[in-house]
Amino acid sequence: MNGKTILVTGGAGFIGSHLVRLLVNKYPDAHILNLDALTYAGNLANLKDIEDAPNYTFLKGRIEDPEFLKKVFEEYEVDGVIHLAAESHVDRSITDPMAFLRTNIIGTVELLNAAKDAWGDRQDVRFYHVSTDEVYGSLGETGLFTETTAYDPRSPYSASKASSDHFVRAYHHTYGLPVVISNCSNNYGPFQFPEKLIPLFINNIRHERNLPVYGDGKNTRDWLWVGDHADAIDLIFRKGKNGETYNIGGENEWKNIDLIYLVCDQMDAALGREAGSSRNLITFVRDRPGHDRRYAIDAAKLTNELNWRPKLQFPEGLERTIKWYLENSDWLEAVTSGAYLQYYEKQYQQKTS
Ligand code: NAD
Ligand code: DAU
Repeated sequence: MNGKTILVTGGAGFIGSHLVRLLVNKYPDAHILNLDALTYAGNLANLKDIEDAPNYTFLKGRIEDPEFLKKVFEEYEVDGVIHLAAESHVDRSITDPMAFLRTNIIGTVELLNAAKDAWGDRQDVRFYHVSTDEVYGSLGETGLFTETTAYDPRSPYSASKASSDHFVRAYHHTYGLPVVISNCSNNYGPFQFPEKLIPLFINNIRHERNLPVYGDGKNTRDWLWVGDHADAIDLIFRKGKNGETYNIGGENEWKNIDLIYLVCDQMDAALGREAGSSRNLITFVRDRPGHDRRYAIDAAKLTNELNWRPKLQFPEGLERTIKWYLENSDWLEAVTSGAYLQYYEKQYQQKTS
């Protein structure tokens, strides 16, 4: 990484901010560029501790803007792209699919074009697309997603991510662009926008608001500590093989309702509330349309080839996450104030009416 300039997109978001912090601290001789549009999900407060680092530069702009991207590649002589910028919330993709098409598909293709035009035939460069396990669809009671599982996206979000994965592979096969892709399971940890299950429920419990459980609460997700994902991205970016895909997962499957009970019980303990009081806030609401039943990842390829394993286990990771949100209630209040709260309450009413 010495002397290299790495362009991270979406670095002001949840996973991106953990990755940018890791790269800035771990590689003082690399220049880390963070390109982000600062949508509702992007927040420079996530990177306060490294904003003055000499090897870090923030660039505000959109990945769908080819002129802006061209300037960035010309001005900074980029050697590698780690692409995370995306619309990332499944529920929002159901109400506004076009936003997902614009950012996740068109934005990714514009970024591929900018990299291809700037790099020509260079092979000492790399375009890394950070993707999701949701491209594989939904599992039954058993089985795991592997890298060869057929794509079967079922929400506008996962369809847009599947499409962008296909474009990344197409640019490798057609133009020889050196690329790598990873597909990861559900992340959790500090700085996640509180529309996603774990931080939403932590915040709702703080305010003694209802906890909206979709459907029967038995949908299953495989949860991974965000720091473990950032480590995997760093490793795959440096050591992964061109044209390859790597699955990343936590070996940590939870039915939503069991996870929610754990969040409730840990929150009661952390807040000094009577045991069981948060569970009383649980409210079963209308199911998410097309709600995928189960995701679970086989990450054996990443373990066998690059020696990666998740380090931080549940329930310790969840305890750390809860502690962080309670100690950073200013952050929570800032990102959920004003327009967001109104948006959330409207969505909640629709799920219960
Ligand atoms: P996030 O929503 O927290 O952050 C997305 C970031 O992208 C924000 O900073 C936002 O401002 C920026 N952005 C959005 N549209 C943009 C645009 N048009 N141009 C430039 N920047 C833009 O997302 P996240 O949860 O950190 O996810 C990051 C990436 O990882 C996404 O590509 C997502 O699909 C993927 N992923 C997420 C998870 C997860 O559990 N959160 C799991 C697997 C893969
Ligand atoms: O699997 C990786 C994906 O994980 C990422 O690609 C996405 O960017 C990320 O948002 C996440 O998607 P999910 O839809 O799995 O995450 P979410 O936190 O929205 O929901 C987790 C589960 O909890 C899911 O089964 C839906 C359920 N849920 C969610 C919310 C927000 C509820 O029951 N109630 C809720 O209010």
